[in-house]
Amino acid sequence: MTDLSQPAADVQSQAAPTGVAPPLWLLAELTYRCPLHCAFCYNPVDYTDHSRELSTEQWLGVLRDARALGAAQLGFSGGEPLVRDDLEVLVEEARRLGFYTNLITSGVGLTDKRLGDLKAAGLDHIQLSFQDSTQELNDFLSSTRTFDLKQRVAASIKRHGFPMVLNCVLHRYNLPHVDKIIEMALAMGAEYLELANTQYYGWAHHNQAQLMPTPEQLEEAEAVVERYRRTQGDRCKIFFVVPDYFERRPKRCMNGWGAVFLGVAPDGAALPCHAARSLPGLVLPNVKETPLREIWYESDAFNRFRGFGWMKEPCRSCDEKERDLGGCRCQAYLLTGDAANADPVCDKSPSHEKVVNVVKLARETATANEPREQPIVFRNDANSRKLVAACSSDEPPHERGRGQGG
Ligand code: FES
Repeated sequence: MTDLSQPAADVQSQAAPTGVAPPLWLLAELTYRCPLHCAFCYNPVDYTDHSRELSTEQWLGVLRDARALGAAQLGFSGGEPLVRDDLEVLVEEARRLGFYTNLITSGVGLTDKRLGDLKAAGLDHIQLSFQDSTQELNDFLSSTRTFDLKQRVAASIKRHGFPMVLNCVLHRYNLPHVDKIIEMALAMGAEYLELANTQYYGWAHHNQAQLMPTPEQLEEAEAVVERYRRTQGDRCKIFFVVPDYFERRPKRCMNGWGAVFLGVAPDGAALPCHAARSLPGLVLPNVKETPLREIWYESDAFNRFRGFGWMKEPCRSCDEKERDLGGCRCQAYLLTGDAANADPVCDKSPSHEKVVNVVKLARETATANEPREQPIVFRNDANSRKLVAACSSDEPPHERGRGQGG
């Protein structure tokens, strides 16, 4: 297994900072606090270990430094960014700096007053999450009663004149409702609908056995999406993010490690990808101690998987490596125990069988409305602490049992 705590001199020499483009996209994860408890949350399962948040001044510094580096798109995310009462101050500064700003929210706390204040501060765009088109499933999957509130918030967002993306994470439970979810988005006047099939990191990885759909569910949902695209035209642009477990080639994750994406976690850790915290040994630089420019261009964490020098076989000699860049490092670690391995989604990977077996198991076990009694682990502080304790055992994640009860 590649030890990420050791410097990778040969890698850095092949990934010269002079060839590195500036970041384009800053994701400011303002807090891990969240009123929802979604079973597929991508936040790290050990988020309770990283609960100290940057101050307003520190976040303002991050925004200025990231803009000076060249970042142009800014997402305010979390957890739930609205639990920070300085959000309007940060939005105002982001607008002054020239960022295009997007608020990524569950809608909880998005009152008319805050919408008005955010509009005045210059917020450009809002992405509102739903878990389903039905109250029953929306509230079950988030372990909260928020469906009605989200409906009201969606109407308020449109009244305030914001462009709106509805986001719905898809999985075995709600894939059969894709037509209703699209109808809901159309009725709400959303300009965009993002139907994002679950990516299995963080909490979703622990709930994979419960969430993984069947290939048939996916095919049917895609056909429904195509039908609506044909009949609705540009009224609402529908994105359908395919789950890569069903592919034979991996995704070009984050469009390349350290290529365009720069995340900053609530405690100031700088992230080359959403799930980088899951990679043991990778020392994440912190904006409290290291200038952002140095983090982006010189840190070991951001240089570690740039370029091709880090690759092992079969990626190293693969004629497709420039297209997919070896796939996802976090998925490679979660499934094989080594982040420098080929992403097992690729059928050239010696571990591809693991992905095939997950899909096979989903097909064998899935029946309509069946998995409710299974032990889904909802994202909450108690489960985070339990999982941290379980993960401190010697067993690596690719060998750990799935679906522990919460
Ligand atoms: Fe980390 Fe793909 S999520 S590299």
